Amino acid sequence: MMKKPVLKIDKLSKSFGAIKANDNLNLNLFKNEIHALIGPNGSGKSTLVKQISGFLKQDSGQIYLEEIDISNYSAEHRSRMGIARSFQISSVINSFKVIDNLRLSLMGRDGGYLNPFSNIYRNKDYSDEAFDLLKIVDLTNKANDLVSTLSHGDKRKLEISLALSMNPKLLLFDEPMAGLDKTSSQLMIDLFKKLKVKAPILLIEHDMETVFALADRISVLDYGSLIASGNQKEIKSNAKVQEVYLGDEN
Ligand SMILES: Nc1ncnc2c1ncn2[C@@H]1O[C@H](COP(=O)(O)OP(=O)(O)OP(=O)(O)O)[C@@H](O)[C@H]1O
Ligand SMILES: [Mg+2]
Repeated sequence: MMKKPVLKIDKLSKSFGAIKANDNLNLNLFKNEIHALIGPNGSGKSTLVKQISGFLKQDSGQIYLEEIDISNYSAEHRSRMGIARSFQISSVINSFKVIDNLRLSLMGRDGGYLNPFSNIYRNKDYSDEAFDLLKIVDLTNKANDLVSTLSHGDKRKLEISLALSMNPKLLLFDEPMAGLDKTSSQLMIDLFKKLKVKAPILLIEHDMETVFALADRISVLDYGSLIASGNQKEIKSNAKVQEVYLGDEN
């Protein structure tokens, strides 16, 4: 029996005017894996992630989450179903403590936002669960700090813990290392290795050192089309990939 993918992209296409940003794309994501999506600037990587999370509507094609066709679901619905996109900076409240951001998110997950005055949510204290999430991203020592005082790297960690608070079925990361120094990037690489067993990761990343440190599988986009997909060895030795993307690094 074939393994069933957590996420399946089937013949997805999206154009902006004359630009085919995604052209008949097929891609999947399996349990326990990091699938890296690479390709030149403008090749359609972010467009794909926006369609998966539901912020952009595809022109044609289907998106399946655990075999459920979610192609026409709202972003909100998809997020509730377990599609987590990190770096929605807007979801972090800067004037709140780190731990309170998490408690609020957990309350939202359980429907507390719908009725914030309901006793169930007022009386349930999410501190333990929030603290456990901070443990995963190694941020417990900052639990009571205001978000506004955090470093860039620590904010990233908080954002990831917020993504985890939604019990995600998969994680979408669009250039998560952007703006991080070498030390923070390395911490993030270690963290991602831990995370992928909780939820598989679709990772867009330009830094090939990071990609080769993390990816179980790599897919390469060029002008909206998938030009290769395989393990590291296959991708490194692929002539077309060398030509359009990796060539200048060797
Ligand atoms: N909202 C939009 N309106 C018009 N064109 C867009 C829009 N979003 C993306 N595009 C175009 O679609 C193509 C794919 O863009 P996309 O942002 O997906 O590329 P990318 O692979 O993420 O690039 P980068 O590596 O620079 O982040 C580009 O030609 C881009 O200019
Ligand atoms: Mg992009």
